[in-house]
Amino acid sequence: MKIALAAGTRPEFIQLEPVIRELKKRDLESIFIHSGQHYDYEMDRIFFDEMHLPDPTHYLGIGSRLPGEQVGEMIIRSEPVFSSERPDLLLVTGDTNTALGVSLAAKKAKIEIGHMEAGMRSFDRSMPEEINRIIIDNISDYLFPPTVKGVENLRANGIVRNVCLSGDVMLDSILYYRGLIEKGSRTVDELSLDDGTYLLLTLHREANTDDRERLKNILSAISQAPFPVVFPIHPRTRQRIENFGFTLSENIHPIVPVGYFEFLRLLHRSRKILTDSGGVQKQAFFLSKPCITLRANTEWVETIENGWNILVDDDQEKILGAITDFNPRGSPDLSLFGHGQSSGKIIDAIGKYTGRS
Ligand code: UD1
Ligand code: UDP
Repeated sequence: MKIALAAGTRPEFIQLEPVIRELKKRDLESIFIHSGQHYDYEMDRIFFDEMHLPDPTHYLGIGSRLPGEQVGEMIIRSEPVFSSERPDLLLVTGDTNTALGVSLAAKKAKIEIGHMEAGMRSFDRSMPEEINRIIIDNISDYLFPPTVKGVENLRANGIVRNVCLSGDVMLDSILYYRGLIEKGSRTVDELSLDDGTYLLLTLHREANTDDRERLKNILSAISQAPFPVVFPIHPRTRQRIENFGFTLSENIHPIVPVGYFEFLRLLHRSRKILTDSGGVQKQAFFLSKPCITLRANTEWVETIENGWNILVDDDQEKILGAITDFNPRGSPDLSLFGHGQSSGKIIDAIGKYTGRS
């Protein structure tokens, strides 16, 4: 069996890594299509270097563009790859423009699609990612929801065939790399911070970065936090802060995006995390860190229901209230996201569904 993997953004490199390890272990043939949606060293190559990912077999070089053009170029540039390589299956994850564009090209080339992180929904159709997820789920042949909620959302969408509750590959990754995550953090040392005394902040959702008022509300609330805040800034957010002419307050320490291990070390040692990221909400849960989500909704409802995540939107009072008073007790129930063997389950299920191994 020949599997094509497609990725182009930071979360996709992270999520495909456990699958790539599993494919290698089983000596299965694969090709790796990199769209080039993310291309700065800190958003791209650093993950290949750190986690020893194989070099892409096909680099599409799409880069940053208007969303429609970006998806269009994904289709145009990946179609010839499918025609020449004829993989048995394309495996994509999540909801990015890369996952959407490459999946559409695969479908047109009559290549079957497996979708990891299937069924996740925020029910907020103003998010570009929500539209991408709905389309990818609906054209996929094999669906790998990480949680029961994902299975239920797919069922509500009429998708019940070839659905495998896989658990979450990000949990596989955290458990596998636990030893490296528990090492000291370079950033904590450089900023002379103490463990458990600082907040970590990530912010990159279009709804937060491109809306001046929302971005101002969020940064203004965080500037009043009685703690130092470490802020690895996504390039989109850095540009918007500059364009809007905002100045960060003294308690916020902006740094360039860090690598995967350094990010998890920073998270592991933080007091709490403030974020609008999907992946980070899960990682906070896996590492028992209170997560304050700067959105009005989330796909990762289990983390809310289990008491370790709170939605504060851009409401300054709620943000500050959560910074001081949101203190979950007990431990998060990690089994809601599987048992750390999701990549193996996904490859097993593909073998079973396709009758190939
Ligand atoms: C994309 C995904 C989002 C995901 C995020 C992960 C879509 C629709 N969005 O958002 O779901 O959560 O990646 O980080 O696919 N830029 C650089 N250097 C880079 C990459 C981007 O400077 O290496 C800047 C460019 O100005 C670009 C902007 O960031 O226009 C946004 O990049 P883009 O890939 O379009 O979307 P993300 O916000 O990264
Ligand atoms: N991440 C990183 N360095 C950073 C910020 C984030 O390595 O400076 C990692 C982190 O593990 C996170 C992942 O990148 O889970 C996903 O990135 P992002 O938040 O950009 O995307 P999302 O999960 O929202 O799609």
